[in-house]
Amino acid sequence: MRAVRIDEFGGPEVLVPVDVPDPVAGPGEVLVRIVAAGVNRVDALLRAGVYHRAGRPPLIPGAEAAGVVAAVGEGVTGFVPGQRVVTLDAGKSPGFYAELVAVPATQVVALPDGVDLVQAAALPVAWLTAWYCLRTLARVSKEDTVVVKAAASGVGTAAVQIAAEVGARVVALAGSPEKAAWAGEFGAHVTVDTSAYPDDAEVEEVLRLTDGRGADVVLDTVGGRAFGRSLREVGQGGRVVALANVALEPSTVDTRDFYPKNASILGFQLTNRQLHGYDPRADLRDIVDRVAAGVFRVPVETVVPLEEARAAHERLASRENRGKIVLAVGEE
Ligand SMILES: NC(=O)c1ccc[n+]([C@@H]2O[C@H](COP(=O)([O-])OP(=O)(O)OC[C@H]3O[C@@H](n4cnc5c(N)ncnc54)[C@H](OP(=O)(O)O)[C@@H]3O)[C@@H](O)[C@H]2O)c1
Repeated sequence: MRAVRIDEFGGPEVLVPVDVPDPVAGPGEVLVRIVAAGVNRVDALLRAGVYHRAGRPPLIPGAEAAGVVAAVGEGVTGFVPGQRVVTLDAGKSPGFYAELVAVPATQVVALPDGVDLVQAAALPVAWLTAWYCLRTLARVSKEDTVVVKAAASGVGTAAVQIAAEVGARVVALAGSPEKAAWAGEFGAHVTVDTSAYPDDAEVEEVLRLTDGRGADVVLDTVGGRAFGRSLREVGQGGRVVALANVALEPSTVDTRDFYPKNASILGFQLTNRQLHGYDPRADLRDIVDRVAAGVFRVPVETVVPLEEARAAHERLASRENRGKIVLAVGEE
């Protein structure tokens, strides 16, 4: 089969198309013929060699995909060849920048007809992350004001919609006027173009928008300097959910004003949840059902062929992407 492999850590140019042997479905596994594979910031961190669980090259990146069941391994029930499915990785290599993947059946969810496979491929990582962080960890309610950082990102666009659906007031922060306006289209009640509010001014603006009280929940996908701002933007007894795998804005953090607020910092790592027994299927089904019903919109801005995975990573590096980038791998 064709796959895209990293033989050494580096820039987008290390993503090289190769021929590798077809995988087979072992006991408890489903062999999926991939139609589309999602691209995530985490893949770029893995490619660069700065993601803590990257392992050593050669590596096939990719943590999510949608496609069609090609075969099922011994003991698998509930899946048949030809069925449309979405799947995510269970914290092991090889990944999903490939034509075929064998995954544990516990990581596979059947798709209703109404859900397009390109959109489905963009769901698992960003949407499960935002869903778990907001609903399970931060327990967002309709009484809350939720600040979403990098609100035009893959995780951000999911988070804005998930918090808005719960009934919370959503303040979306994004790094350009276009990104901020766009985040508003997903149900954010207030949008802030952070390029107009650098550093301390961002904190002042969030405090102004929350009548000086600070936010109940801050979803921090950026880390570093942005995390320092999050600690100042959260209010008394609030929750900061920190999920940047690697700080995108490195810095030291001043916690002086944070401790008197008795607020919480909730750390999150999707792969840890999976490795430690979190079964993502119920949450993923809830998300898929809402996509099928038109409640959630999955913005896929760029689709490139598998062989051009390098171009997908160059697009991510531009920081101009709004929503998700997907690799087109095969026909349905
Ligand atoms: N913990 C987990 O399990 C988990 C799971 C999924 C994702 N994540 C993390 O969540 C974040 C978002 O992921 P994603 O796939 O949605 O990312 P993405 O679509 O690539 O968006 C990342 C956004 O971060 C903002 N940003 C701020 N400083 C940046 C910098 N120096 N370089 C690049 N971007 C910068 C940019 O938005 P603005 O221009 O609007 O500032 C950018 O669009 C990443 O940090 C990722 O590692 C964590």
